[in-house]
Amino acid sequence: MRHFLTTETWSRTELQALLDLAAQLKQGEHGATLAGKSVALLFFNPSMRTRTSFEIGAFQLGAHAVVLAPGRDAWPLAFEPGGVMDGTAEEHVVEAARVLSRYCDLIAVRAFPKFQDWQIDRQDRVLQAFAEHATVPVINMETIVHPCQELALMHTLQEHLGMCDGKKFLLTWTYHPKPLNTAVANSALLIASKFGMNVTLLCPSEEYLLDPRYMDAAHTAAHASGTSVTVTHDIDSAYADADVVYAKSWGALPYFGNWEEEKPLRDANRHFIVDEHKMLRTNNALFSHCLPLRRNIKATDEVMDADYCIAVDEAENRLHVQKALMTTLAGGLSE
Ligand code: CP
Repeated sequence: MRHFLTTETWSRTELQALLDLAAQLKQGEHGATLAGKSVALLFFNPSMRTRTSFEIGAFQLGAHAVVLAPGRDAWPLAFEPGGVMDGTAEEHVVEAARVLSRYCDLIAVRAFPKFQDWQIDRQDRVLQAFAEHATVPVINMETIVHPCQELALMHTLQEHLGMCDGKKFLLTWTYHPKPLNTAVANSALLIASKFGMNVTLLCPSEEYLLDPRYMDAAHTAAHASGTSVTVTHDIDSAYADADVVYAKSWGALPYFGNWEEEKPLRDANRHFIVDEHKMLRTNNALFSHCLPLRRNIKATDEVMDADYCIAVDEAENRLHVQKALMTTLAGGLSE
């Protein structure tokens, strides 16, 4: 049994096989590969794209999706091993994961960090608990990484650029009024470096560097493929000759739980917005973002409405890559 918790434990060859299957599914090949199967989609946080694409993807494969929001329309869960459950939780993840595994062929989980203590959040306890106690494959629908978004990003880049080896991938921090999850930024580092791109990380200061786990993984992948990971705080040089500009906002890790102190830093960097002037410095780059995106905060209307903006393509491809993932993990082509 194989989980899909992070792309770090999947080789480039295995990930490319998922992308190739996604391309076939997008062309209408294979049909109802998961007829009669079912998937539980557990959302501890809101979603538009992830919920819709998984639910419709399961339907298109002939499977049934059950959407649950623990604490809202399903029992609130406890995760502490050996704890005395005298709080609000009515059920422990041990039983929840075991019971759902009896009903379903796949369990998918979205559980964002709590934004209080990064040393706790980086353990990804909710996802890891489901992976430990489920007896069916578990899919990460975004926790501290967003591997399904990674697949959609790379699928979209390959549709537009072919194999991306050697291309310059710029991951730029952008301003947002609230501190956001680092998951998509971590994931962008992982997938771009694994697929042989030269990665530039642009952020306002050292405080916005990503967790060393992902910085190191990107450096290791780049070293293996003879490319590079560069960190810069200089906007002009970062955009110069970029082939892909990928934007994301995230909260600075040293300020987790202390966001009032981070706010002035963030507020001083509204000029990291992606605009046409910056895009002119690139090598006719594609622009993308995982969405949702606040227009004229993270990127201008002109950028979002430009032909080079592939954010909606990427969102569409969530459907196709996740169908490939569900088909692969649930054995849809091998039975
Ligand atoms: N990109 C993404 O995961 O979108 P949602 O938060 O709407 O699911």
